[in-house]
Amino acid sequence: MNRAQPLEGKTALVFGVASEDSIAWAIAQELAAQGARIILGYQFRYHSRMLQLAPKLPNLVSYQRCDILKDDECETFFGSLTGPIDIVVHAIAFAPATAYEGRVVETTAEDFSSALLTSAHSLAKLTNFVRPHMAQGGSVIALSYLGGVRVAAMYKVMGVAKAALEALVRELAVDLGRDRIRVNAISAGPIRTLAASGIPELERLLEYNAAVSPMRENVAQSDVADCAAFLASDGSRMITGQTIYVDGGYSIVGVPDHTI
Ligand SMILES: NC(=O)c1ccc[n+]([C@@H]2O[C@H](COP(=O)([O-])OP(=O)(O)OC[C@H]3O[C@@H](n4cnc5c(N)ncnc54)[C@H](O)[C@@H]3O)[C@@H](O)[C@H]2O)c1
Repeated sequence: MNRAQPLEGKTALVFGVASEDSIAWAIAQELAAQGARIILGYQFRYHSRMLQLAPKLPNLVSYQRCDILKDDECETFFGSLTGPIDIVVHAIAFAPATAYEGRVVETTAEDFSSALLTSAHSLAKLTNFVRPHMAQGGSVIALSYLGGVRVAAMYKVMGVAKAALEALVRELAVDLGRDRIRVNAISAGPIRTLAASGIPELERLLEYNAAVSPMRENVAQSDVADCAAFLASDGSRMITGQTIYVDGGYSIVGVPDHTI
C-alpha cells in the first residue's frame, strides 16, 4: 500500500543540518518522506558532511551555504530561490563556549548578543527573507528547549535565548497571521547532537530526563520530526504562536516519583 503523502506539492526550506544526528536532518527526512521538496541551507564549516548527506534525501531540490549572520551569503541564498516556499524549519542555535563558563551574572555583552542574535533574532531574519516566497502562506517551525521557560542547569545564556525565541514565535505569529503564515516552536527534550555536546554534563542530563519523564525514555530526533511534519501540514492549519513540547512529558513533572 502506498504511504499517504500529506506534504505532496509543498516545498520546505530547512536550516540546521550539521550532521546525521541533527534534529534538522531528521525533520528534512520526514518532510521528504511525506512528499515535500527540500532545500537545505547550511553553514560552510559543515560542507564536507553536507556533500555526503544531502544526496541521500529524496526530493532534494538544492543545498547551498548560508550562514544566517552573514548578509552576503543570505543575499546569494535567498536571491537564488525561485518557486514558492510552504515550510520553513529554523533549527539554529549557538552560544560561544565562554558563555557556559563562569557564572550567569558574569555573562559578557558580546556572548549575550552572539547567543541571542544567532539563536533568536535569526528566526525573524530568516522569515523576513523567505516571506516574499510565501504568498500562499505557510508554516514556520523553530526548535526550543525547556530552558526557555525554566532554569535548566548549565544552559545559562541559552535559556535567555530560548525565552526570546519563544516570545518571538508569538510576536511573529500575530504579525504574519494576516499573510496566512503560521509560526510555532517545538520544545524538544534533550537529544545527543553536536550542539548539545557543548552542554556540560549532557550524559547526566539524559539519564535524569529518561528517569523522570512520564514516558520513561528520552526523545529521539524522529519524535521531533513527526511533530514538525504535523506542524508543516494542513492538519495544523489553525495552530500558530505555540510552543509544543515533545519531551516525553518531562516538563509537566514537579516532584519526580522515584518509587516507580
Ligand atoms: N539537542 C537537543 O538536546 C535540543 C533540545 C531542544 C532544542 N534543540 C534545538 O534544536 C536546534 C538544532 O540543534 P541540534 O541539537 O540538532 O544540533 P546541531 O548542532 O545538529 O544543529 C545546530 C545547527 O545550528 C546551525 N547554526 C549555528 N549557527 C548558525 C548560523 N550563524 N547560520 C546558520 N546556521 C547556524 C549549525 O550549523 C547547526 O546545523 C537548535 O535550535 C537547538 O537549540 C536541541
